[in-house]
Amino acid sequence: DLPWRRNRSPYATWISEIMLQQTRVDTVKPYFERWMERFPDAAALAAADEQEVLRLWEGLGYYSRARSLHKAAKIIVSDYGGAIPGDPAVLRKLPGIGEYTAGAIASIGFGLPEAVLDGNIRRILARYHDIADPVRTPQTEKRLWELARENLDRERPGDFNEALMDLGSAICLPENPKCLLCPIASDCQALLHGTAAERPVMIKAEPIPHYIVTAAVTI
Ligand code: ADE
Repeated sequence: DLPWRRNRSPYATWISEIMLQQTRVDTVKPYFERWMERFPDAAALAAADEQEVLRLWEGLGYYSRARSLHKAAKIIVSDYGGAIPGDPAVLRKLPGIGEYTAGAIASIGFGLPEAVLDGNIRRILARYHDIADPVRTPQTEKRLWELARENLDRERPGDFNEALMDLGSAICLPENPKCLLCPIASDCQALLHGTAAERPVMIKAEPIPHYIVTAAVTI
């Protein structure tokens, strides 16, 4: 029972998806409710003063998200008559909306058969299909998007995408996945091969170099 699931309008989906980037579900809930009360649609947001928009965002962090929402709302009003576009290619042109968010708005807000791929879904797909190639490379990203599209329930794409998000946050966890409780365990290739703990394969990030530097001002 999440507040944005009671109102699955394109606008509510857009706001919640942006808030949920880099922020936990429990943190987002009260911010989302306050926001929807103060800015119930794109026109209300577009007409607001930036300072007020930022004040309502205060505490969520990554403030560029709030600035992008505000900018995008103005474009939605000036170019689209205040109605959020449903076409993912058009959505992606708006500030702050990438491939994931465009897919989420199109599928959840508009019921269009569009896939989404985020960290949780990447992990589920890498396990379900036992993908041994490192994720986050252009080739594997392409394959994962294809798998996300192939697996998609085209009758209920929004519910399907949110079910995957829930599976990733409650069952198919990064550490100690709860495979005994998983509703799709019987077809999970990584579980079958005993490789679930090793999926997804991540390329190790280059360690950040640490330099000790001394400076002095001499007078
Ligand atoms: N995280 C990102 N989007 C979400 C959603 N729609 N429901 C739950 N968690 C999410």
